[in-house]
Amino acid sequence: MSQLLDILGTKYPIIQGPIGELNDPKMVTAVSEAGGFGMLALGFVTDLEAIKKMVAEIKELTDKPFGANLMIAMNPNNEAILEVLAEGGVKTVTTSAGSPKKIFPKIKELGLKVLHVALAAPLAGKAALAGADGVVVSGTESGGLRTTRPEATTLVLVPVVCDMVDVPVVAAGGIADRRGYQAALALGAQGVQVGTAFLASEESPAPRAWKDAIIGCGDASTTLLPMGAMAMRTIINPKLAELMGSGADLGQEYNMVNAGKAWTTGDFDLFPAGSGQVSALINEIKPVKDIIEGMVS
Ligand SMILES: Cc1cc2nc3c(=O)[nH]c(=O)nc-3n(C[C@H](O)[C@H](O)[C@H](O)COP(=O)(O)O)c2cc1C
Repeated sequence: MSQLLDILGTKYPIIQGPIGELNDPKMVTAVSEAGGFGMLALGFVTDLEAIKKMVAEIKELTDKPFGANLMIAMNPNNEAILEVLAEGGVKTVTTSAGSPKKIFPKIKELGLKVLHVALAAPLAGKAALAGADGVVVSGTESGGLRTTRPEATTLVLVPVVCDMVDVPVVAAGGIADRRGYQAALALGAQGVQVGTAFLASEESPAPRAWKDAIIGCGDASTTLLPMGAMAMRTIINPKLAELMGSGADLGQEYNMVNAGKAWTTGDFDLFPAGSGQVSALINEIKPVKDIIEGMVS
């Protein structure tokens, strides 16, 4: 058994990537039941009772391990959330978007394992030094929040980090099928984190319009939308294409506060649909089990 499988307690080293506030206990259960590591996305969720309820629901639906992601700089309730998770039987969490030093002491105090998500090699190195049990490294092709600085692709970032740290490395970004999964392992990763492919799955709570937008993507269908110091990878829809063509200041045109509403309603004029470059490889809505079995087959 690999170190990563030991940390996750799963059959396969496949982690469900958190997507904003998109949560559904049934979705987490589907990933865990299929042998992966289902995860709640708690980056922006502050309601402890709601979290308790979701954890209880997952535990009613499956006895398989599952976890949760916490975004360090985004959520004032992280310490209390960690207590709820530990009480609920969660053994491993992931952290992203902030300094691990801020939250690792509480994680360790509760006896939890932690994988830290890093978008660049130096940050992965720092996380390992700070006591991370593993690192998830996310190349620039990934969906989600990115930086506006130069970034490496998964193909480059994963082996660089594997050469740098002694803890298990998980590859994130660009993985949707067997080829991507095998490539990640060949690069030295012990596992993968999958965002966009699960977002477009049958069990995903995302609106149909979002899944259809992902399926409609070709190889150059996403862009990094600047949001101050950060950037969000989104699908170029007609409104965004027009704004890009006119040279408009995209940071002024879109406000990330609207992403939640856009992504629950499918109104992508309000804020474009988030997704990774790997959308180009996703051509149909499939059950989570088929996605996972396709990867490991
Ligand atoms: C729309 C969208 C929203 C995301 N939101 C988060 C988030 O809230 N927290 C986080 O740590 N990662 C977030 N991610 C990153 C994913 O968890 C995952 O690491 C990434 O999608 C992997 O790349 P892939 O899309 O190529 O599979 C998001 C990704 C997408 C597509």
